[in-house]
Amino acid sequence: MHRHDDIDFGTPLSESAQTVTLHIDGQPVTVPAGTSVMRAAIEAGVSVPKLCATDSLEPFGSCRLCLVEIDGRRGTPASCTTPAEAGMRVHTQSPKLAQLRKGVMELYISDHPLDCLTCGANGDCELQDMAGAVGLRDVRYGYQGANHLDLKKDESNPYFSYDPAKCIVCNRCVRACEETQGTFALTISGRGFESRVSPGMDEPFMQSECVSCGACVAACPTATLQEKSVINLGLPTHSVTTTCAYCGVGCGFKAEMKGHEVVRMVPWKDGKANEGHACVKGRFAWGYATHKDRITTPMIRESIHDPWREVSWDEAVQYAAGQFRRIQAQYGRDSVGGITSSRCTNEEVYLVQKLIRAAFGNNNVDTCARVCHSPTGYGLGQTFGTSAGTQTFKSVRHADVILVIGANPSEAHPVFASRLKRRIRQGAHLIVIDPRRIDLVSGAHVKAAQHLQLKPGANVAVITALAHVIVTEGLEDAAYMAERCEDKSVREWREFVARPENSPEAFEAVSGVPAAQVRAAARLYATGQQAAGVKRGDRQVNGAIYYGLGVTEHAQGSTMVMGIANLAMATGNVGREGVGVNPLRGQNNVQGSCDMGSFPHELPGYRHISGDAVRAQFDAAWGVTLNPEPGLRIPNMFDAALSGEFKGLYCHGEDIVQSDPDTQHVAAALQAMECIVVQDIFLNETAKYAHVFLPGSSFLEKDGTFTNAERRISRVRQAMPPLAGKADWEATMALSNALGYPMAYQNPEQIMQEIAALTPSFAGVSYEKIERLGSVQWPCNESTEEAGTAIMHVDHFVRGKGRFVLTQYVPSDEKVTRKFPLLLTTGRVLSQYNVGAQTRRTANSQWHAEDRLEIHPHDAQDRGIKDGDWVGIESRSGQTVLRAAVTAKVQPGVVYTTFHFPESGANVITTDSSDWATNCPEYKVTAVQVLPVAQPSSWQREYQAFDQTQQSLVAGAHGAPGAAAAAGAAAALSGGK
Ligand code: SF4
Ligand code: SF4
Ligand code: SF4
Ligand code: FES
Repeated sequence: MHRHDDIDFGTPLSESAQTVTLHIDGQPVTVPAGTSVMRAAIEAGVSVPKLCATDSLEPFGSCRLCLVEIDGRRGTPASCTTPAEAGMRVHTQSPKLAQLRKGVMELYISDHPLDCLTCGANGDCELQDMAGAVGLRDVRYGYQGANHLDLKKDESNPYFSYDPAKCIVCNRCVRACEETQGTFALTISGRGFESRVSPGMDEPFMQSECVSCGACVAACPTATLQEKSVINLGLPTHSVTTTCAYCGVGCGFKAEMKGHEVVRMVPWKDGKANEGHACVKGRFAWGYATHKDRITTPMIRESIHDPWREVSWDEAVQYAAGQFRRIQAQYGRDSVGGITSSRCTNEEVYLVQKLIRAAFGNNNVDTCARVCHSPTGYGLGQTFGTSAGTQTFKSVRHADVILVIGANPSEAHPVFASRLKRRIRQGAHLIVIDPRRIDLVSGAHVKAAQHLQLKPGANVAVITALAHVIVTEGLEDAAYMAERCEDKSVREWREFVARPENSPEAFEAVSGVPAAQVRAAARLYATGQQAAGVKRGDRQVNGAIYYGLGVTEHAQGSTMVMGIANLAMATGNVGREGVGVNPLRGQNNVQGSCDMGSFPHELPGYRHISGDAVRAQFDAAWGVTLNPEPGLRIPNMFDAALSGEFKGLYCHGEDIVQSDPDTQHVAAALQAMECIVVQDIFLNETAKYAHVFLPGSSFLEKDGTFTNAERRISRVRQAMPPLAGKADWEATMALSNALGYPMAYQNPEQIMQEIAALTPSFAGVSYEKIERLGSVQWPCNESTEEAGTAIMHVDHFVRGKGRFVLTQYVPSDEKVTRKFPLLLTTGRVLSQYNVGAQTRRTANSQWHAEDRLEIHPHDAQDRGIKDGDWVGIESRSGQTVLRAAVTAKVQPGVVYTTFHFPESGANVITTDSSDWATNCPEYKVTAVQVLPVAQPSSWQREYQAFDQTQQSLVAGAHGAPGAAAAAGAAAALSGGK
């Protein structure tokens, strides 16, 4: 199977509205102005040999294989670099051209190892194809001259190899790294015959700046850069188009397969979120799906001290249902609940919340968005009327000023980061608001015009100060506000932000950001200029805001989201291309899990459970009488468990023990419950407290849809059958049936049909349509375009008039004190993902094998801490120990860590402080002390012992010896049924 079974048109699509007509080999062809002759020919079905051209990159014109003849022009121009012109008559075949092309190929082949039969790219090599296409039969120069055949391979990258002996110096990899990825890790070193591709300063790939996105590998026409999986397994035989299951960018992929084995994941050219690009996670880190740690047999146990017993699906499901019914009979209907998974498909999430509402008969359902973007739901709902990003990712190419707040796209949303960097290289201005000096502040060929390096917890002060400048310097779009927003709210907001106490100067002390910088940033966002005295020009400046968990995971997370929405409305930056407010969603389907009714107060489509008309619709469709009272949120479930009222939990694909704040509190709550059912692919941290384990399926085994941060609904297609024999939706259905609430879906498509029938914003969504169009964006119904809505709030806001909300700054309760003098903030790295359950089981750990604590050199020196030292971090919640990374990326007074490894215990430190409106935990601000230590914390020692015991109890499920002894050890640990 060929790497790109899609047609490669050689040069990118021109988006010009004007067309030109020319003749190619006598055939009339009409193409958009700016199209290359090569692309025009290929579009007309005329193939032109090429090596250095590919349609994802700008033409380069180096290989001279694509020569053509054009009537009235001298010579033989390269068709890839020659624009098509009206009236041109092009000839792609002639004896002269054939001879020239053969000559080019002879030169390449004379310096190429002729090991085609044993080469990993045999059958998937453009050099081989071109030798065939030009009819090369002989190499006049022989193979004995100077050559590069002895150059050493670079095998340092775990996923791809670089064999310079096979390089034809076409420059495609260098251009891919620059244009597509924006990392600029590769150069052509040496000159003439000596020239070769080299990462960084002639370093191995792993030591260079390379971030292993694979763009160069995809672009390489030979076996020079090649996936090791292909070298090991041979070429794939078929492919399945699907969607990445890591982050909210939602990249489209072709899973290239051999039987049921993945050979490689190739980013899908027609995937609208990624357009053929990917990052190291989606592209390479899929090996976890068949990792030996996968649990594929259902298991049960009476108590968490017992060894697990492997049982049939039927027994596990009946046992779980029996326990839930017993608990409800004993403690009341509301004593059980469930958590839906943002890693699972829309269809799976929909079924879990349906089971809870219809079979449990309460609304105790929540999702991990509680701990990430619930303030987005609240904040954008209040101001705009709906809880979702306003744009497509592609829209950023029309932005003039880009404001990135509390987000680190290079690490967490890498494919979007590549688009954003491209736009900045084209001249857009960038403002970064972040406590850390993230890569965008000063990266390769990208520099922020302003970096507002605020103190953690001061977001609302900064956003209000920006608004102050916009209003008091007359930079707002008064006409937009008058036409599109609620009058009264505008008046009140203008008066509020204009107050002197909301000025950048007044906030300087709390935010730590110099007032002049805030003023310059406000001017830049509103007008495209930083200087004072600039007014709004005639041309509308497009200001786009992208934000992440650095906005939401705060005590004032919802206030900050509303502050962002206020700023966008005040400057007229909502409702067209290049502008908007865009939350960068964390998990692959966090948007979908929210859309599907995962919150305790909302039915699918964000309709409040107390609405009689909506409930009546669901009552009729589901044949039940829904409870009108909102149920418990996740933190309330924990509190209720500790007070003895909440006893049973169905936890679907979510590792709350590792991901939720205050680990010890979560663990105590779980130990207080009587039945915890975990459905997951691994024995995660939460499963160690479970009584029933239902094996889940990885994205490669799933059939359904994911919804990304653009509201784009894409298909997830099954590449291999579920390893456990049941898909997640089938398991949920079986549990519901065992609970006595019948479900009888034949396939996920039927579930989507029900969702569409019951959810107005999904009314036009169908598998048939997604198949035809590639993807659709909600709202998608009779009042939108067929493919749904690319840009939200175009003529009016979803709620009618936009509403400004006052954003009173309230300092966080998490304040530095003498006892806890530093502020801890948390985030992610590129190579690991969230709780790390997947990426830790791949070679991605070669980039990041442990969580470290970043600390500023001054703070480190004060405490006698050196780079790599073990340090204890203590907050009012708990204590853990990590190794220090001394770096000026963090400011003095701030420390930072990731939370990808359970043993790090980052969430042992985080507290119960949370967003006032949504309970989203304040992960980004925890007051801590950091001191050098010599041994793990007591929590870490307990964790290690508990982990070992739990692992051995699973081994018991497989009949391993020692299970009974392990059970005894487990019983010695305190608490827990
Ligand atoms: S893998 Fe990506 S970052 Fe690394 S050299 Fe290739 S294109 Fe550049
Ligand atoms: S490594 Fe591949 S893409 Fe890069 S110059 Fe060599 S042949 Fe071309
Ligand atoms: S950017 Fe996100 S969706 Fe795309 S490949 Fe990477 S992890 Fe997957
Ligand atoms: S493909 Fe045109 S010069 Fe290489």
